[in-house]
Amino acid sequence: MSFNSNSSSIRLLRGKGPLIGKVRVPGDKSISHRALLFGAIADGITTVEGLLPAEDPLSTAKCLRAMGVSISPIEKEAKIQIEGVGLNGLQEPEEILNCGNSGTTMRLMLGLLAGKQGRHFVLTGDASLRKRPMKRVGQPLEAMGALVQGRSNGNLAPLSISGRQLHGAVIGTPVASAQVKSALLLAALTAEGETTVIEPAHSRDHSERMLRAFGAQIEIGGDMGRHIKVRPGSSLKGQEVIVPGDISSAAFWLIAGSLIPRSQLTIENVGLNPTRTGILEVMKEMGACIEIFDQKDIAGEPVGNILVKHGTLKSFNINETLIPRLVDEIPILTVAACFCEGVSKIRGASELRVKETDRLAVMARQLKALGANIEEHDDGLTIQGNQSLVGASIDSETDHRVAMSLAIAAMLANGDSQLARSEAAAVSYPDFWDHLERLQQ
Ligand code: S3P
Repeated sequence: MSFNSNSSSIRLLRGKGPLIGKVRVPGDKSISHRALLFGAIADGITTVEGLLPAEDPLSTAKCLRAMGVSISPIEKEAKIQIEGVGLNGLQEPEEILNCGNSGTTMRLMLGLLAGKQGRHFVLTGDASLRKRPMKRVGQPLEAMGALVQGRSNGNLAPLSISGRQLHGAVIGTPVASAQVKSALLLAALTAEGETTVIEPAHSRDHSERMLRAFGAQIEIGGDMGRHIKVRPGSSLKGQEVIVPGDISSAAFWLIAGSLIPRSQLTIENVGLNPTRTGILEVMKEMGACIEIFDQKDIAGEPVGNILVKHGTLKSFNINETLIPRLVDEIPILTVAACFCEGVSKIRGASELRVKETDRLAVMARQLKALGANIEEHDDGLTIQGNQSLVGASIDSETDHRVAMSLAIAAMLANGDSQLARSEAAAVSYPDFWDHLERLQQ
C-alpha cells in the first residue's frame, strides 16, 4: 500500500501484496521530445498521439512556444497539434529558455539552435541540469562552426548560443549518447555540406527513424548502424506521429511483477525498439517469466504487449557493450539484483554518474539505507543478492527513476519506508503512484 503523508513529497510505502492486472505505461519520453522538436521545424501540421504529458516533454514544448511555435495544450490522452515553422522559422526568444530537469531538451536544443543565423539564445535548467556536462555537444558543434559559451569553459548551463551558418563535418562522438548524436543530426539539417556522425556504440535510434519519416535525407551505415550521414537541403514535412509506451517506464512493472510473489501483470503498448530492449535480454538471462505478444509496427517503431509473472531470478552481469541499450534501467536493475540469487555486476556504466543524479552513488546510498550490500566502483556496482531489506527513510534525491526504483525496493522490504521527494516521478511518469495503488492487491 502506498499513500501520501501530510507533507506532499514524503510517501509512505509498505506491503508485499501482489501486483495484478493490466497497465498502459505513458508515452516514450525520447520519442515525445523528438515529435515536438521535429514537428516544430517541419512545414505544415504535425499531430502526435500518445505524447508523454510529463514535466520533461513539457519543458521542450515551453521552449519551442517561446520561439513562436504553436503547440496545442499537452494533456493526458489529447491528440497534440504542432504548427511547424520550417527549418529556419524559429524566432529569437525574448526570455531565457528553461529546460527544467531535462537533459534531452537542453542537448537537442543546442543542436537545433546552433545554426539559426542572426539569433541569440540562452538555455538554463534546474539545479541538477546545471551540473550536467554539455561540452559533449558544444565541442562537436564547434567543429561545425557553432558558437556555444557557458560556465566552466562552456561545459555547464546557463549556455549562450549565437546562431551561425554551420558547415558539415565528419564527427566521432566520444560517448555513445543518443542526445549528442541527435543534437548533431539536428544541426546537420541546415549545415553547408553533409555531416557524418560516428558513434562508439549504437545508441537509441529514434531520431534517425523519425527524421527519415519527416523527409530528411539520412543514410545509416557502418557496423551496427554507427555511421549516420545527413545530407542537408530537404525540408521536413509535418507527420502523424504515434508514440508507443515507454519501455523505461514499463521496466518498473517488469521488475516488480517478477519480484513480488503471486504477481501477474500485462503491460500494454510497450515500445520494443531493439536499441532499447536490453532490459528484456537481461531479464531473460535472469530467468524471468516474460512473454511478449501482439507485436506490430506502429508509425515506424515496433510495439507489443508484455506479460510478466513472479518467479525466481538469477544474478546478472552487465558490461559496457549493453549499457547504451538499458542505460535508464540500471536503477531498477540494481533493485532487482538485491533480491535475486547470487552476486550481480554492473560495469562500464560511468555515464550513470552524469544523469539527473549520480545514479551509481545515489542507488548505492539509498539501497544501503534499506540494508542492501552494494559495493560501488568508478564505473559500476557489485550487488549481493538474496537480501532481506528493512523499511527505512529513503530519498529520491530529486531523480525520477530513483524515486520509482526505490518505491519497488520499499515494497519488497520488511516494514514501512518513507520516501522523500517522491514527486520527482512526475518528470517521466506522472501517474506512477496511481498505477501502483491500482495494481496492488
Ligand atoms: C535519451 C538518451 C539517453 C537517456 C535519456 C534520454 C534521449 O541519454 O539516458 O533518458 O532521449 O536521447 P544519453 O543518450 O545521453 O545516454
